[in-house]
Amino acid sequence: RISTKIAEIPLASFIFNASGPRCTEEDELNLLGTSASAAIMTKSCTMEPREGNAEPRYQALPYGSIQSMGLPNLGYKAYLEMLPRLKQAGKPIVVSISGFSLADNLTMVKAFQTSCADLIEVNFSCPNIEGKAQVGYDFEQTERALEQLCELGSKPIGLKLPPYFDFSHFNTMANIIKKFPVSFITCINSVGNTLVIDPETESAIIKPKGGFGGLCGDYIKPIGLANVRAFSQLLPSSIDIIGVGGIKTGTDAFEYLLAGASAVQVATCFEKEGVECFDRIAKELDSIMAAKQYSSIAAVKGKLKMI
Ligand code: DHB
Repeated sequence: RISTKIAEIPLASFIFNASGPRCTEEDELNLLGTSASAAIMTKSCTMEPREGNAEPRYQALPYGSIQSMGLPNLGYKAYLEMLPRLKQAGKPIVVSISGFSLADNLTMVKAFQTSCADLIEVNFSCPNIEGKAQVGYDFEQTERALEQLCELGSKPIGLKLPPYFDFSHFNTMANIIKKFPVSFITCINSVGNTLVIDPETESAIIKPKGGFGGLCGDYIKPIGLANVRAFSQLLPSSIDIIGVGGIKTGTDAFEYLLAGASAVQVATCFEKEGVECFDRIAKELDSIMAAKQYSSIAAVKGKLKMI
């Protein structure tokens, strides 16, 4: 099996779960522990436990999903308390934090800095909280946050970024990231604030936020690939990039590897298929690598060719 590293933390495969589906409750995280997921990634947490938005808030679509979950989670203290038990699975733990303010994020990152988490992914891109902009679309706020978030300890910090669609934005964000000891970035979060309409019922298909929600799955793979590629060209190779967006086969993972990803995360496919997806996708990637006679991630990473 092809292995990899994120911020010098070894991963037994190239594939693990994205923060999102099936990673909120302790039993779900335990299931990830016994699965072929290369890490246990937790649902983005907030200071207090949350029920999340009103239902229906997730709808499967033919080629992906739309969701506006609203950060349902147990509150960060529950995950802090759970981590030593999750650690018994013997694989890296990535915690996702998604505070509503810099103060929240500072409190939570500080707490996880002295926990047994291996990596801390700070979510700058939740699109589903009414009245809260995605931090990653506010460059000044991102820079002010990083000034303080990177000073709290020695555990690797990463950023979960929203998708960008313009080179001015790729450049600006890359230049900010380069100023700080950010160890990894995760590209991309869902494409925020999209609208799916059911013409039969003449209605939006999810309830929160007037029907606006994050688009996920196959629809967003080219956007994820572009973001991984752009940042891999703009950032030093010491900053690992985790690819997310529409990965459901070994071929998808291979494409993200060509674009420059050091690992990938799976959300919609995991929601639809369950934990079996991790072993399947890893095996499919291994077959592709073997057929092409590549024996390591390094042989392919970022080696996208131009025609
Ligand atoms: C939620 C959605 C996201 O895309 C995210 O990054 C964090 C939380 C949610 O709605 O729960």
